[in-house]
Amino acid sequence: MYILGIESSCDETAAAIVKDGRTLVSNVISTSVKEQALYGGVVPEIASRRHCEFISATVAQALADANMQIDDVDAVAVTFAPGLIGAVLVGVNFAKALAYSAGKPLVPVHHLRGHIAALYLTHPELKPPFLCLVASGGHSHIVQVKDYTHYAILGRTVDDAAGEAFDKVARTLGLSYPGGPSVANAAKTGNAKAYRLPVPHVEGKYNVSFSGLKTAVLNEVNKAQQKGTEVNVPDLAASFQERIAGILAEKLLSAAADTGAAQVCLAGGVAANGRLRQLVNDGAQRLGAKVYLPELKFCGDNGAMIAAQGYYQYVAGHTAGLDLNGLPTLPIDYE
Ligand code: KG4
Ligand code: ZN
Repeated sequence: MYILGIESSCDETAAAIVKDGRTLVSNVISTSVKEQALYGGVVPEIASRRHCEFISATVAQALADANMQIDDVDAVAVTFAPGLIGAVLVGVNFAKALAYSAGKPLVPVHHLRGHIAALYLTHPELKPPFLCLVASGGHSHIVQVKDYTHYAILGRTVDDAAGEAFDKVARTLGLSYPGGPSVANAAKTGNAKAYRLPVPHVEGKYNVSFSGLKTAVLNEVNKAQQKGTEVNVPDLAASFQERIAGILAEKLLSAAADTGAAQVCLAGGVAANGRLRQLVNDGAQRLGAKVYLPELKFCGDNGAMIAAQGYYQYVAGHTAGLDLNGLPTLPIDYE
């Protein structure tokens, strides 16, 4: 079964064809990230306008790369929540029109379920149940994936998402947007022990909090300025990365130990972080759990992950009518 997946919840306009939820056939990503970088973050209206401009050609290219026509696909899957609502609606309306005109089923996909499904593209042998840290620009969840369409949230951030913390710290350090890759890059030549950053206290065993960490980085910058000096950017980037990756890995691994998870996974944009991947890999091996990490090309937003999850939603009977709406927020464990 061939599913066309369409994603437009942030600054990537993406479309892909995936066979049976597992095999990538084509994958096209158009992005406004360079333009967004001029403003130091995503400007929602710019994202929506670029989606309007890019979406038709992006979907056409995904079909062309697959050597397929719309008649050859079995269903059209689209991200309907959560995300920047003006951006989400572009994809939702495009998918509706396409599904209607081609007489194909329309399958709504939750963006974070999509991030998790990116793992199925990288690891054909991976099957639920597994434990997954989903960390993106807007969310940080520790999720028990019970089966392909059922989830339980064990922990979450009580303030900033992990990706958001990387983005804000990058801005404080004068590094470019998106912050994750630029902090990771600066950290390469830094000493992770140079700055002592706090370990935030948070209620809830598997919850995380990053706003205090972000403020601690800002305080270091202000302290240095008051002394007429400057922070060492690579050292502070490395110290921050070490702390945030350490917290995320520690929470995921303690949840894995407590629940006896046999399979431990990462998903979302922050799953591209090399230090986080290393810590989770090493820790899970010590626990005797198998580790599954998404390929770097499937960590950030893409259409393939929506097509992969779209397959499982479709097989479970989750289709929508032409009254489908987009939602800015929706928990991953919605029924
Ligand atoms: O999943 P994603 O592409 O979009 C959302 O759904 O939000 O995640 C984007 C986030 C951004 O905050 C970005 O800074 C972060 O993922 N990110 C990283 C890395 N690459 C992207 N964070 C840490 N290390 C990275 N290498
Ligand atoms: Zn995402």
